[in-house]
Formats: sequence, structure tokens, C-alpha cells
Amino acid sequence: MSNKILVAYSSKYGSTGRYAEWIASALNADLFTAQKINVNILSQYDIVIYGGGLYAGGIAGVKLVTNTPCKNLIVFTVGLADPHITDYSAIINKNFTPELLAETKFFHLRGGIDYKKLSPVHKVMMAMMKGMIEKKPESQREAEDKEFLSTYNSKVNFEDKGTIDSMVAYVKGL
Ligand SMILES: Cc1cc2nc3c(=O)[nH]c(=O)nc-3n(C[C@H](O)[C@H](O)[C@H](O)COP(=O)(O)O)c2cc1C
Repeated sequence: MSNKILVAYSSKYGSTGRYAEWIASALNADLFTAQKINVNILSQYDIVIYGGGLYAGGIAGVKLVTNTPCKNLIVFTVGLADPHITDYSAIINKNFTPELLAETKFFHLRGGIDYKKLSPVHKVMMAMMKGMIEKKPESQREAEDKEFLSTYNSKVNFEDKGTIDSMVAYVKGL
């Protein structure tokens, strides 16, 4: 019998939602926003895939799956930073206990941003982040910092459907 797969996600500006749709469609999985999910629903699935946008070191809505035991948990994050040059260990350690970490498979995907569409609170947060980076001497700025500054106040979209392939292959192999 084939595995029953759930894709649940939390997306503020749409990037995570688009990835979640692509993943659910590739895996023939059920797709729900995190708000529509409860413990009873989670327990019905053999594989739970959770996607959340990255917001200042947090994974949007991830408590849904960190507070509830799930069989075969896979978490994907969607952020502005380039996954090839980003260290996610601080984000992951902040949100996952060592026990849960050992049972969770992570994938990191790249989204986008349109500063014009940000909420007032998010605009302020991004301005603060820019200020913090600019305070660092140039020699101490990480690649992620430089990337942040180069896209600040613009509209960029790095969504790439092909980047779901390794996750889809992993889940098909379970
Ligand atoms: C206030 C704020 C904080 C953010 N923090 C991060 C971050 O820590 N790391 C990152 O890679 N992207 C960060 N981003 C970018 C978002 O993760 C990116 O726009 C993503 O595509 C959002 O996904 P969503 O549209 O599904 O919510 C931040 C964006 C905002 C507005």
C-alpha cells in the first residue's frame, strides 16, 4: 500500500505556498495550509512534509510539527538567502530539540521578496536588519549579508521548481 502523504505550509507572501503546491502535485499528496491542520489530521498521515517561510531566524508556523509527534517528518524552509551559501544550523537548533532534529529531514529552498508588498511591520524589520548589517565592517560581512544588501528595497524572485526534485526523490524512496 502506498504512503499517505501530507504537505502543510505557512506562507505570508506566497513563495512557500507555490513550492508546497509543486511538491504536493509531484507526490500526489494532500495539501493544506497550517491553519487548517490539527493533531487528529496529522496523525492520519504516514509522511508529513511541512514548509514554512523564514522570518528573522524563525520558520513560520513550524510549532505545528515541533509540538506534535509526526511519522516521517520532512521540513522545508523558503527564504531569500541562497541555500548554497547559508548556514541554517542556528535556525534549526533554535526551533528543534536534538531528539526531533535526529528524526527530521530538512530541505532549504529559495523564495523571493517584493519590498513594495511588505506589511509595515516587515518593512521596519527589514530596515533594522539593513542597519545592523551596515554597522559591520565590510570585511566582517557574510555572503548572506552582501546578498541581503544587494536585494534590499527591490523585487526579486528566486523560486525554482527544479529545486524540489531532491525532496521529491527522498520522499519517493521512503
Ligand atoms: C521581516 C522579514 C524577515 C525575513 N527573514 C529572513 C531570514 O531570516 N532568512 C531568509 O532567508 N529570508 C528571510 N526573509 C525573506 C522571506 O523568507 C522570503 O521573502 C520568503 O520567500 C517568504 O516566503 P513566503 O512568501 O512563503 O512567506 C525575511 C522576510 C521578511 C519580510
